Amino acid sequence: MSFARITGTGGYLPEKVLTNHDLEKIVDTTDQWIRERTGIEKRHIALEGQTTVDLAERASRQALEMAGVKPEDIDLIVVATTTPDRIFPSTACLLQSRLDIHGCAAFDVQAVCTGFIYALGVAEKFIKTGGSKKALVVGAETFSRLLNWEDRGTCVLFGDGAGAVILEADDETGILSTHLHADGDYEALLRVPFGVSQGMEQMDDINSKVEMRGNEVFKMAVNTLGRIVDETLEANNMEKSDIDWLVPHQANIRIIQATARKLKMSLDQVVVTVNEHGNTSAASVPLALDVAVRDGRIKKGEMLLLEAFGGGFTWGSALLRF
Ligand code: UT7
Repeated sequence: MSFARITGTGGYLPEKVLTNHDLEKIVDTTDQWIRERTGIEKRHIALEGQTTVDLAERASRQALEMAGVKPEDIDLIVVATTTPDRIFPSTACLLQSRLDIHGCAAFDVQAVCTGFIYALGVAEKFIKTGGSKKALVVGAETFSRLLNWEDRGTCVLFGDGAGAVILEADDETGILSTHLHADGDYEALLRVPFGVSQGMEQMDDINSKVEMRGNEVFKMAVNTLGRIVDETLEANNMEKSDIDWLVPHQANIRIIQATARKLKMSLDQVVVTVNEHGNTSAASVPLALDVAVRDGRIKKGEMLLLEAFGGGFTWGSALLRF
């Protein structure tokens, strides 16, 4: 069985930037509160008419270019998103058409902020079992469209963006393990309570937006991410000191710091983008990865721990040699 190795990364953020000072004019908040409680300084927001597949396409083209892979050589497309362009076809199918790829399997994965880790875990299994040789794995969101701009507890936290990786079969190295988990009992803490099955006529401005009990989610995230770090290291017989880089989900700098402390890592070994991107849900981990690969921090051969926690609850990790 071969490994699944990341051979290219890509990222895209919409041009429109919303700063904390901009938000001060929209809701009862302050730049100081947002910085101190979350670490966020700004976030990118999709332009009117700009949709998830638009962002996904830009990130995917970058990842293909870095990997030196032609679109027609891709044999699997997995897109993690909570904010698809349509009820159907899937965003993965729309992306496939944009890239002029025909015939390979293409589907979406929905695990909210853990979506990219889920998508990576699924694609890895395809590659390990010979079902794919070159996969495109994307996390893409226009999460701003799910926000209640009158709820200061949520609207200051999220942003839009997309990140992508190319995964290729490799005899020597790549993803060592992925760990995927969920517990549906926590739906009430973080959700958008509306869905198609309730009948479209039941949808209104409030029930179609994000609801979160932030403080409770915060505590669960810190504890759960601490546990998954242990699980991942144990499964691979590794020590904390074996990890070169932590690439965490970017929800809150305080959650990231807690996980880094658990790993006894200095923040210099942690990729932090939450200040510039906010929480881009499924896009946050691949975007952070792309930033650190492109600026030269993450180098070939280094050991990376990717982790995320989100609605569901879902949580997961991936340990890989880059
Ligand atoms: O990615 C998916 C997973 N999501 C997360 O991981 C998010 C997890 N949660 C968090 O990041 C944090 O809980 C928040 C950033 C959402 C909130 O921070 P907190 O330190 O947990 O604050 P809190 O919810 O306990 O609220 C403290 C106070 C409250 O006021 P009172 O009741 O003490 O008077 C809130 O009303 O802060 C108030 N508050 C705000 N004040 C100014 C809440 N949001 C704001 C705001 N600006 N935007």
